[in-house]
Order: sequence, then structure tokens, then C-alpha cells
Amino acid sequence: MSADTARRTERFAKAGSPDGGRDGAIAEDPALAGLRVSGSLPDGEAEIELRGVSKRFSARKRETLALTDIDLGIRKQEFVTLLGQSGCGKTTMLRILAGLTQPSTGEVTIGGRPLWNGDHRDDEALRKLGLVFQDANLFPWYTVEENIALPLLLRKVDKTERRRRSHELGELVGLQGFEKALPRELSGGMRQRVAIARALSYNPEILLMDEPFGALDAITRDKMNLELQRIAEATKATVVFVTHAIAEAVFLADRVVLLSARPGRIRSITHVDAPRPRSLEVTAEPGFQEKVLELRRQLTEDEERVGREGGVSE
Ligand SMILES: Nc1ncnc2c1ncn2[C@@H]1O[C@H](COP(=O)(O)OP(=O)(O)OP(=O)(O)O)[C@@H](O)[C@H]1O
Ligand SMILES: [Mg+2]
Repeated sequence: MSADTARRTERFAKAGSPDGGRDGAIAEDPALAGLRVSGSLPDGEAEIELRGVSKRFSARKRETLALTDIDLGIRKQEFVTLLGQSGCGKTTMLRILAGLTQPSTGEVTIGGRPLWNGDHRDDEALRKLGLVFQDANLFPWYTVEENIALPLLLRKVDKTERRRRSHELGELVGLQGFEKALPRELSGGMRQRVAIARALSYNPEILLMDEPFGALDAITRDKMNLELQRIAEATKATVVFVTHAIAEAVFLADRVVLLSARPGRIRSITHVDAPRPRSLEVTAEPGFQEKVLELRRQLTEDEERVGREGGVSE
């Protein structure tokens, strides 16, 4: 890399960081597309931190560099959305944060503690995490109440306390009256609410969500986004939320991290400073629409590039 390119990269990386960038601006420079955008925070500010993270998969003679050069800090109580086209590494990144996948290089810290020590995972750091996936994954033979309280049962919490907590969470996610229902008696949106309540049952400080509303119709999805915003506020959780819906990513986020594909790296970081609680009317505001359009432009450009180059899968 020439000295000039290095300087420009550094400048670009700074613009991409939350404190170097203009507030509300999209840190992106087309001339430098493909170069590294850093989402690092100043020392001590991050609750969750990925430093120099990459992930390479080897499967049946095929090597895939799913993620590379990922530097990202996430503050306590921040709401970060990960946006990007299919296959760009969003789930991989979330699984790395959840301790389900070990990165090939780099370090993950949660609350200042490294998540991995060699091949050994730090279970204390994991206790801070709650996970929600695209499929609600409920146990069909358990009632709503029992599904919500399952993590507490596994933690040997007594029955009275499990009941109390599951009732409280049922109300928080708007499921009152359905405590005794079985999953098959619920709509898709209601099942996702149970999954969210279950993830919240042991008070996780960090909620990791992988396209939790992907299977829902547009109106239910809007409602769930409003609910999630309220729940995040009420529980003071830090949230990392994966989606490929641009408007959803902007609506929910304090920062949108756009990943580009093959190899998956941070392409831009967009600050969304609209005050909270946000109502759906926010989506009609020009500032909101500008961000959506710009992110769509970047996504389309990325898709065209991958289509042209076939991407770098090695
Ligand atoms: N266990 C695995 N073994 C081999 N390759 C994998 C594995 N998991 C993911 N990959 C590859 O890593 C890349 C990123 O996958 P990932 O699931 O993270 O994408 P994604 O952004 O979540 O996509 P989608 O929006 O479709 O869910 C893909 O090329 C995928 O084929
Ligand atoms: Mg995925």
C-alpha cells in the first residue's frame, strides 16, 4: 500500500468510526470502496469488541473467507444492525459474537473479557448473552409459559419464580392471556415474541438477533419492530440485530453496519440519530429516506460487483 493510500485509508477509517464521522452521515468513499472501514471505538468505550476478526471456512476442498478485517466496537445499550446481501457473513458474525463459532483470527471481548482463551470459551462472558434466531425454535409440547421459562428451568430456578418471571415477560412482549397456549396455537409473530421473551428470561445484557422477523408479513413486522424498540429500552439491553431489510435496519439502529460480500467486510457505518422512541412516521422523513436510498445504492453496487467478479471466495 502506498503512503498516500495508507493515509487515505486511515482518514476513511476515521470517518467510519462513530466519533470521527459527521453525525448522521454515511461514512463511505466510493474511491476507496473495498478498503477497510473500522468500526472501532476509543479504548474502554466498547461493551462488545471485535478486533481484527476473520473467519475462513474449509469445506470439501472449498475455502471461503466469510469475514475479514472486522474491527467493531459496540457500546452498552447501543442498538446496532448488521445489514448486507445474502451470504455476506452476517450470521457468521453473529455466531462469532455468540461464541458459537470461533474466529480464525482476531479477538472478541465482551464486557472487557476475551470470549476465547485458546480453544476454551469463557462461559462467564456467555452468560451475558441472549439469542433469537429466524426460526422461533419453540418446544411444541411446552406451553408459552413453559417455553419462556425454559432457560430458568435449566438454571434450576424454582417453580414459583419461573411462573412469576414468565408472566412478567409475557406481559412485556404482549402475550398476556396466552400463557397456557401451545406454540401451534400461535401466529408466527406471537411465536417470535415467545422466543424474545425466552431470550430475555435470564436478564441478558446483550441480545443477539438473527433475522428474527424475516418470516413475518410487513404489518406484523412493523409492529414487532416497534415492540422490540420498546423492549430494548425497558430492559436496557445492548442489541445486535441482523437483517437484510434496509428500512428495518435504519429504523431500529443507532448505527447500521453494512457488510459487503465476498469477502465479508465492513463497507460503511451509518449513524441514525433520530430521537427515541421512534414511531413509524419517522420512515417518511427525508433524512430517513436518504439513508435508506444511500444504503440501497451501496448494496446494489456490492451485488453488481459480486455478480461481475464472482467475489473472492478464497
Ligand atoms: N459452516 C460453514 N461451512 C462452510 N461455509 C460456511 C459455513 N457457514 C457459512 N459459510 C459460508 O460463509 C459465507 C457467509 O455465510 P453467512 O451464513 O454468514 O451469510 P449471511 O450473511 O448470514 O447470509 P443470509 O442473508 O443468506 O443468511 C457464505 O459464503 C457461506 O457459504
Ligand atoms: Mg444469515
